[in-house]
Amino acid sequence: MTAPLQSYPFTMKRTLNFGAGPAILPLSVLSQASKAVLEIDGSGMSILEISHRGDLYEQIHNETKERILKLLELPTESYTVLFLGGGASLQFSMVPMNLLRPGDTADYVNTGEWSTKAINEAKRYGNINVAASSELEKFSSIPTQFEFSEKARYCHLTLNNTIEGTQWNCLPQTKRVPLVGDLSSELFSRKLDFARFGVIYAGAQKNAGPAGVTVVIIRKEMLTGIPSDLPTMLSYQTHAKGNSLYNTPPVFAIYVMGLVCQWIEEQGGIGGMEKQNEEKARLIYGALDSREDLFETVVKRREDRSRMNITFRLKDANHEKIFLKRTGELGMEGLKGHRSVGGLRASIYNAFPLEGAKLLSQFVMEFRV
Ligand SMILES: Cc1ncc(COP(=O)(O)O)c(C=O)c1O
Repeated sequence: MTAPLQSYPFTMKRTLNFGAGPAILPLSVLSQASKAVLEIDGSGMSILEISHRGDLYEQIHNETKERILKLLELPTESYTVLFLGGGASLQFSMVPMNLLRPGDTADYVNTGEWSTKAINEAKRYGNINVAASSELEKFSSIPTQFEFSEKARYCHLTLNNTIEGTQWNCLPQTKRVPLVGDLSSELFSRKLDFARFGVIYAGAQKNAGPAGVTVVIIRKEMLTGIPSDLPTMLSYQTHAKGNSLYNTPPVFAIYVMGLVCQWIEEQGGIGGMEKQNEEKARLIYGALDSREDLFETVVKRREDRSRMNITFRLKDANHEKIFLKRTGELGMEGLKGHRSVGGLRASIYNAFPLEGAKLLSQFVMEFRV
C-alpha cells in the first residue's frame, strides 16, 4: 500500500467498528458498564447479580424509561415504554397481533428486507395493504406516491433501511392514521415528529445499547382494544400493566441502555446527535461522490440516503477485496455489505466517532488500486 494516510494525524486506540449491529458503543458507557459488572452502586453485587425486584434495579428501570421519553420529547401521560425480548423481529408479529382486530386493515410501505419481513408476518393477522413499494428498484429509494386505505388501523414504516441504506427524510401524510415505526437502526439519531407514532419499536443493539432488549414506545390509547385471547407474553397489556416486570427483564441490557441515554443527553440530546450524524454522513458521501471514477453509492437520490448506513460499491467488484484488506489494516472493520446485497456498507450510528468518518472519507479520496 502506498501510505495514503500519512498526512492524517490520527491514531486509533480502538477498532473503528463500522458494523451494522451489534454496533459500536460509547467508550465512556463501556467503561461504566464494566465497573458495574464488578459492583453496582456500592451494593457489593454485580449488575448481573441484583434482583429485578429490588429497589436498586427498580430505580434503573424507571429512570431509563423516563430518559427515553424525555429524549423523544413524548409526554409520560400519553406514552409508555416497554422493555421486551425477541428482538425487533418479534415486533413484526406483536404489532399486528395487538393492534388488529378481525376484519381490520393496516397500511405498510415496503422499503426493504426488514419491511418485507414485517409485512409477511402481519399478513397472518389482518388485511395488509402495501401502500407503496420500492422493490422494483431493489429498494434503492423511498417511495413518494402512496395508496393508503380508507380505514387503516395504522401505517407501518421502516424509518431507516439498514441493509439497503435508505432513510425516510420526511414522514408521509396519513391524516389521522397513527404511524408504527421500526426505528431499530436509527433510534435517538435525529429529530422527528414522534407524536405522530402510535408505536415505535427498536432492537437496542445499534443505536441504543447491547443486544437483548427491544424497546417499544406505545401511545397509551393504543392499549385499549387489544385482543384478550393473546398468549400472555405476547400482549402489550401484560407488559404495560406489569411495568415490563411480568417476567425477568434483561437487566444488564436495560442498564446499558440507560447509560447510552445519559450519554446522548450529554451530546445535546437528539438534536446534538443529529448534527454529529449529519456531519459524519456528509464527509463520507462527499468523498464517495468525489471518486466516481472508482466508487458508486447504491442510493442515487440524495434525499433518500441513510445517515446511519452508507451503502456503496467499487465499480470493479474485484477491488472490494483490496478495499476491505487495506481498511482492515488501518483498524476499520465491519465494512462488508449485508450478505444478501453484497458491496460495502459503512454503519455510522450515534456512537461512531467523527474521527472515524474523517479517516474513511480520506481513505476513499486517496484510494488507488
Ligand atoms: C430495520 C431493522 N428492523 C429489524 C431488524 C431485526 O432486529 P432483531 O435482530 O433485533 O430482531 C433489524 C436488524 O438488523 C433492522 O435493521
